[in-house]
Amino acid sequence: MSELATIENDLTAKIDAAATEAALEEVRVAALGKKGVVSEQMKTLGKMSPEERKEMGPALNGLKTRIAEAIEAKKQALAEAALDARLASEKVDVTLPVRPEPKGKIHPVSQVMEEIIAIFSAMGFDVAEGPDIEDDFHNFTALNFPPDHPAREMHDTFFFEPKDDGARMLLRTHTSPVQIRTMMTQKPPIRIIIPGRTFRCDSDQTHTPMFHQVEGLVIDKQTHMGHLKGTLEAFAKTFFEVDDVKTRFRPHFFPFTEPSAEMDIQYERVGKEIRFGQGADWMEILGCGMVHPNVLKNCGLDPDEYQGFAWGMGVDRLAMLKYGIPDLRDFFAADARWLEHYGFDPVDQPNLATGLSR
Ligand code: DAH
Repeated sequence: MSELATIENDLTAKIDAAATEAALEEVRVAALGKKGVVSEQMKTLGKMSPEERKEMGPALNGLKTRIAEAIEAKKQALAEAALDARLASEKVDVTLPVRPEPKGKIHPVSQVMEEIIAIFSAMGFDVAEGPDIEDDFHNFTALNFPPDHPAREMHDTFFFEPKDDGARMLLRTHTSPVQIRTMMTQKPPIRIIIPGRTFRCDSDQTHTPMFHQVEGLVIDKQTHMGHLKGTLEAFAKTFFEVDDVKTRFRPHFFPFTEPSAEMDIQYERVGKEIRFGQGADWMEILGCGMVHPNVLKNCGLDPDEYQGFAWGMGVDRLAMLKYGIPDLRDFFAADARWLEHYGFDPVDQPNLATGLSR
């Protein structure tokens, strides 16, 4: 074998054997570097006779080119192998769940609040809020409570110590004061719901000193009882997720509405379960009515131009009914086991498109 062929065989074997880019670089320097074997061979061309050079020149150049190409090809092969190894080691399984085990549960009161908001949002209502600490004007006077109304008494209302001028702030006893705040600051048409905390000095199986209400208020030029009925019936059907929920409106009294009514829904108790839309019993779920002309006047609206309707419902009570929870006080006991049992999946937000509670 000629000397060049031996060199080529030797270098090709070394290129094949190089397992890393660093090893390959060593082979390259040993072959094509300034003092590499191929370069040393090139230097001998100068001392050759023209005939020898004519023969050896192309042979050496061919060798140099083939070795350079072999090194380049090996370099690419090594880079691809390195990339493949990296992709394999950093592989992500996109089919794995994002959160295999969601921690924590949504409280039934929060869930029902969200359900109510989802229903009325779809009907075009905005959400309004107001402060928990109120004054007598917004909580009572502007809502047409007479000065001696029993609801103002210590028995029901949590009052704060009197201020210097003798006025006492209080914890709002209902969400209705936000009706006043809205009517005094916004021009009709008004279409709002008001979710929030309310407070009364009362505690037993069906009463807690803090509870939740969602208030509703619609003020426009041509609103009437038909709109009130239609809105609340549509709500009841959607909320209880039963198509033929039967409702009934009974005359009632509230100072801030005239006429006033309470809405009942039909139900039946089967064992421990409550079934809606059947049976012979009626259950009250909310108070409602046409906004009293005095209330409109107190907010600077002309009752001859504007009418409206309003309602207020107890959220905790609706949660008990819908999800069969027997004791109201458990809602506020902060017992993690209770929440684990009755609570809702945090990634499952109520909305009408996929079904409220599923
Ligand atoms: N504020 C009443 C309560 O707490 C509930 C209520 C009844 C609100 C009738 C209303 C309404 O807006 O029209 O008992």
